[in-house]
Amino acid sequence: MHKGNARAFTNIALIKYWGKKDETLILPMNNSLSLTLDAFYTETEVIFDESYTKDIFYLDNQLQEEKATMKISQFLNLVRELAGTSCYAKVTSKNFVPTAAGLASSASGLAALAAACNQALDLQLSDKDLSRLARRGSGSACRSIFGGFVEWEQGNDDLTSFAHKLSSDNWENELAMLFVLVNDQEKDVSSRDGMRRTVETSSFYSGWLADAPKDLAKAKHAIQEKNFTALGEVAEANCLKMHGTTLAATPPFTYWSSDSLKAMQAVRQLRSTGIDCYFTMDAGPNVKVLVEKKNIPHVKAYLETLFDSAQLVTAYAGPGIEIL
Ligand code: ADP
Ligand code: DP6
Ligand code: CO
Repeated sequence: MHKGNARAFTNIALIKYWGKKDETLILPMNNSLSLTLDAFYTETEVIFDESYTKDIFYLDNQLQEEKATMKISQFLNLVRELAGTSCYAKVTSKNFVPTAAGLASSASGLAALAAACNQALDLQLSDKDLSRLARRGSGSACRSIFGGFVEWEQGNDDLTSFAHKLSSDNWENELAMLFVLVNDQEKDVSSRDGMRRTVETSSFYSGWLADAPKDLAKAKHAIQEKNFTALGEVAEANCLKMHGTTLAATPPFTYWSSDSLKAMQAVRQLRSTGIDCYFTMDAGPNVKVLVEKKNIPHVKAYLETLFDSAQLVTAYAGPGIEIL
């Protein structure tokens, strides 16, 4: 019996990954940049055992049906290939984050699974190779191997596409993200399907792609300079451009709900009163507000006038994967 147990935290992209140039290898169309957070995470245990006759997947104490288990098996096949084994596995995972709601459960989920497999089968993968492995499960997961600010280099093949930590003089420890949880239910269009449909059909996609490298350069520069306003402005603009692409897809779709717009408007209102804060959103209706720690009380107090306090979660910069 070979057992591994790991924790990985979610990450929220400030410069988004949105579109693949290779669906099988999960190679992205552009580099992305994220902040790993401490408030939402996944813990996953994996056991490989000769006596198992198939892969089994428990998520949040529920035995998963065939489709969800198939996804896990596909990932485990990559691991089995690396380890030179044909052993089936039992995966037991717990999400301390709503699943498939646009809060990056696939990032923490697949990073935790990759790290647990690395330990179970004693693969001794470097962080870079672990990032490459996690990428094959979900693109954004390659960034959750690392803590703090992280960049995913798109690369041009399996070997060259991986994430790495950005040096930042620990500036991320002065920042926070306030989550406005407007809906924690499973979204209608998964990240995978949403980005595929956008790449294939949206005439706005070329605009997104043309701007992505410029946005990335601005974000990296802002981090180097510890310029909060510059980082927030480019993150918010990049998020709006990403979400804009979905409106021109066929069939068109949006991840926004009326409460998403309400939260975005609240952020604009706070800025108009001199409080520097910016929003970003992933593939889902939930809004994340980037803020300097010193402004948390003010931003939170205002958001509490508009939303239930149970809907507001404060997250700080989080660490990379942890072996349990
Ligand atoms: P999210 O915004 O939550 O990342 P995605 O559409 O990107 O949503 O991915 C959701 C999918 O990620 C789930 O349907 C499941 O396949 C996978 N996933 C989520 N959590 C886990 C987990 N703990 N272990 C394995 N896979 C997971
Ligand atoms: C909008 O990594 O969840 O959150 O690679 O298909 O599993 P797959 O998709 P995923 O996509 C994340 C998209 C995003 C932006 C981001 O996290 O960079
Ligand atoms: Co995801």
